[in-house]
Amino acid sequence: MASPDAPVNEVEALRKQIADLQIQLKQKTAAESGLIAPYSKSYSRVPVRSVLQADGEGASLAGQTLRVGGWVKTGREAGAGAFAFLEINDGSCFANLQVMVDKAVAESVGGLGQLTPTSTCVLIEGILSETPPGTKQKVELKASKIVHLGTTDAAEYPLAKKKQSFEFLREKAHLRPRTNTIGAVARIRNALATATHTFFQSHGFLYVNCPIITASDCEGAGEMFQLEALRAEVAAQGEAVKAAKAAAAADKADKSLAAESKAQVSALLALKQRLAGAEERARLVGGVPHTPSGGIDYSKDFFGRAAFLTVSSQLNAEYYACALTSVYTFGPTFRAENSHTARHLAEFWMIEPELAFADLADDMRCAEDYVRFCCRWLLDHAAEDMAFIDAVIDKGASERLRAVAAAPFARVSYTEAVRVLEEVVASKKKKFEFPVSWGVDLQSEHERYLTEEVYKAPIIVYDYPKDIKAFYMRLNDDGRTVAAMDVLVPRVGELIGGSQREERRDVLQRRIQESGMPLEPYAPYLDLRTYGTVPHSGFGLGFERLVLFATGLDNIREVMPFPRWPGHAEF
Ligand code: 4AD
Ligand code: MG
Repeated sequence: MASPDAPVNEVEALRKQIADLQIQLKQKTAAESGLIAPYSKSYSRVPVRSVLQADGEGASLAGQTLRVGGWVKTGREAGAGAFAFLEINDGSCFANLQVMVDKAVAESVGGLGQLTPTSTCVLIEGILSETPPGTKQKVELKASKIVHLGTTDAAEYPLAKKKQSFEFLREKAHLRPRTNTIGAVARIRNALATATHTFFQSHGFLYVNCPIITASDCEGAGEMFQLEALRAEVAAQGEAVKAAKAAAAADKADKSLAAESKAQVSALLALKQRLAGAEERARLVGGVPHTPSGGIDYSKDFFGRAAFLTVSSQLNAEYYACALTSVYTFGPTFRAENSHTARHLAEFWMIEPELAFADLADDMRCAEDYVRFCCRWLLDHAAEDMAFIDAVIDKGASERLRAVAAAPFARVSYTEAVRVLEEVVASKKKKFEFPVSWGVDLQSEHERYLTEEVYKAPIIVYDYPKDIKAFYMRLNDDGRTVAAMDVLVPRVGELIGGSQREERRDVLQRRIQESGMPLEPYAPYLDLRTYGTVPHSGFGLGFERLVLFATGLDNIREVMPFPRWPGHAEF
């Protein structure tokens, strides 16, 4: 039987249901209109993007009381100190929201002067008001309350000057996301990550997370960062040995003074014993256990074997593709190559799709579709940031995206590419630093010349000589080339490297051995070719190179939030 207060409960329940539905509806409309959905009733800050992009550039919210938080881009007092204008940016979009603060409102935080320095943080409540016609923005927030203030001393703030070199900004990587360029790059990078997931998810690929710690060198190039818990442990032991020795020495000195103390003698003996034990443990070269042949004994290390940071998730992606058909990974990769170029990082992100039942032609098609999808996506979803890039960084950036989205990529065999380059050299049209002939690895200068000068568009070079490519690439029938492909794009050069994988066990084993690598770490990889082998292909796209291509920036260190390269691992 219903309790006497059932009707009240029912009313409450219905009210709650309605409130929930209203939130859901709001979220749905917001999501559909591209605005930021409010995800909680209690979180009342409205992102600047939602304010400015509401119907009619914010005008539809005019009259409402809103809370806006962000950092002051520029602030100035006006009306002879009667009020101040603040340009607030919260990163949700490129544009700032103008906030007008009256002197009286600023009183609570010590006056207008506290609010105007660049990089001051504020959370401000106010009424959104339409500005007079002819003003840059249709709306501004008229502050009624300063809810939070984080002051900045203008004289101390390192990025106070308008123009800073990118090199200087790298040294201030903790503050540089507050600049227009790095903020825009972060949103473009985010848009490209969304594009990536959208593309692969909509084509039925499963997102797989692969390990960062690995025992195998996927590329066989020996450019791995090695993990060693052993040395740290031994270093700690070394400290213990030192301490024991020092204690023993001190005791010896004591002993001559009070030789009759039995207690001290036994303490000394105990210490000596400890010392002997520690020395026994540290008997090994540099304190590190070594094998009889002189190599470091990694069987004593944390993983019971040598372990590294991955250079590519490909091998793991293959295991999943050879069960689940279409997969992709999107994760950090590490290369211990001593490259100081504007295209290389020691830590970068790679997107690696892997497709079962796919040959090199399928692989190239997938790579091309993906890159062109990303270009279109930026034009559709990052137009405001791209407009800034066009205006300030690279005039042709959006146009380049449009061109790439519109036209198919030319396919050029390696042999043909070398022929073209040789012709260019012979006709003295261009001098390269590195010589070019069939069999050499194409250098960045060759790749860029092909895509920028010869084809003036992205191209896919395929069928490379086997001796310059990794062991896993499928050997072609000619016996001297492999089914490899690189996507080359203007400004960047190599954006993608991929291949059809060698699915024939005997050929693969031979290739591993020819590459001078041990078979043991590749036993599971060979297993894949023993149990239900399948023709399959995949590629890796360097995510920062894609951002570089999109933004037209000169150096890859600008598009990685906290870049690592030789000698640099700050922040
Ligand atoms: O050509 P890579 O070495 O290919 C592989 O690692 C394959 N296992 C991928 C696969 O087939 N699944 O690297 C792929 C891409 C390059 O084309 C380049 O864009 C990027 O990764 N890349 C780097 N990006 C920044 N800094 C570095 N040091 C890079 N090395 C490679
Ligand atoms: Mg490559």
